[in-house]
Amino acid sequence: MTRSPELEDLEREIARLRTRLQVFEAMREGVQVLDDRLAYVWLNPAASGHGRQDTEALVGRRMMDVYPGVETTEMYGRLERCLETREPDGMENLFVFPDGSSRWFDIRIQPVPDGVMVLSVDIDERKKLEERALAAERMEALGQLAGGIAHDFGNLLTGILVGVGVVLETLDPASSEAASLRLVHASAERGTQSVRELMDFARGRKVHLSPVALDAALDLALDALSERVAPRVLDIHLDSGAVVLGDAGQIDRIITNLVTNAEHATRDDGRIAVRTRLRGDHAVLVVQDDGAGMSPYVLQRALDPFYTTRGDAGTGLGLATVSALVARMGGSLDLESVQGRGTTVTIDLPVVRERPRSP
Ligand SMILES: Nc1ncnc2c1ncn2[C@@H]1O[C@H](COP(=O)(O)OP(=O)(O)O)[C@@H](O)[C@H]1O
Ligand SMILES: [Mg+2]
Repeated sequence: MTRSPELEDLEREIARLRTRLQVFEAMREGVQVLDDRLAYVWLNPAASGHGRQDTEALVGRRMMDVYPGVETTEMYGRLERCLETREPDGMENLFVFPDGSSRWFDIRIQPVPDGVMVLSVDIDERKKLEERALAAERMEALGQLAGGIAHDFGNLLTGILVGVGVVLETLDPASSEAASLRLVHASAERGTQSVRELMDFARGRKVHLSPVALDAALDLALDALSERVAPRVLDIHLDSGAVVLGDAGQIDRIITNLVTNAEHATRDDGRIAVRTRLRGDHAVLVVQDDGAGMSPYVLQRALDPFYTTRGDAGTGLGLATVSALVARMGGSLDLESVQGRGTTVTIDLPVVRERPRSP
């Protein structure tokens, strides 16, 4: 039986369209079409992957029903505007998933006959690298500034403490003058503590490195910490057996800051896990808590010097100091947090072959 030329044309046309469709299906960029109610009409696998949903679970449903709260975001506003004005648009968007985690996408918004088309490119990796580079620059400048101020300020406070101490000795301890001076003394001592934190932060960039046994240094520091964080469970497994370049003092500052943060974020019945293990030629230190976690907004800023959510009780220097110390030891730091679930800090340190100088 011969086929009509029309049928053959049609078959060729279908084959051509199928090839085009395959390109869409194989693209790493997400392509999705939403109708005028912002319900999903069509998506390629990359788009449903970006949204962490099955295509079938999305088609026909409105975006705001799949991702409750999305209607309050800037991106959603732009989609609505594009439906109205029919003008193309685009932005870098930090998409927050229902579980509280988030990822950066570069999105292009384009009017199409059905509604709007959204093209999404996953730029999370690049965004985070950029942020890190920016943070490192800021940190360098702040470190210099902080170091200078802390040094001068520390000298001033030492002068005050010595002077007040001398005068106090000449006074009757029961007098009101002595009581006032003791307040001055206590304030100056609190100031000294802040100065010490600033110095730690500033010193992150110029410390003397020598081989040190990671697990032993941590063990020593954790001894003191476990009493302090009680009644929380401090769950410790130190299995790296690694020697790293640093010094015990630095490792103490790192673990103290991290465990203190975990303590602040957890309730009394909370759990803080500290683990080390060896991975290739790197030692991995993980401090994990099941506490309050951070919103994506806080998570983005947590490493910034002086960024704190703890008001007057915080200095905002804890994580900045840790990150400076880790960088100085040639390592890297990764922060993961989900609001309401907890926080995991992972530190990666290069291992050296030399033997540690002290146990
Ligand atoms: N383990 C954690 N869980 C929840 N939030 C944390 C944790 N660690 C740090 N943060 C957040 O990061 C901010 C900065 O931490 P940090 O640099 O140690 O300064 P500070 O503790 O003085 O606030 C904290 O104020 C808090 O909001
Ligand atoms: Mg802190």
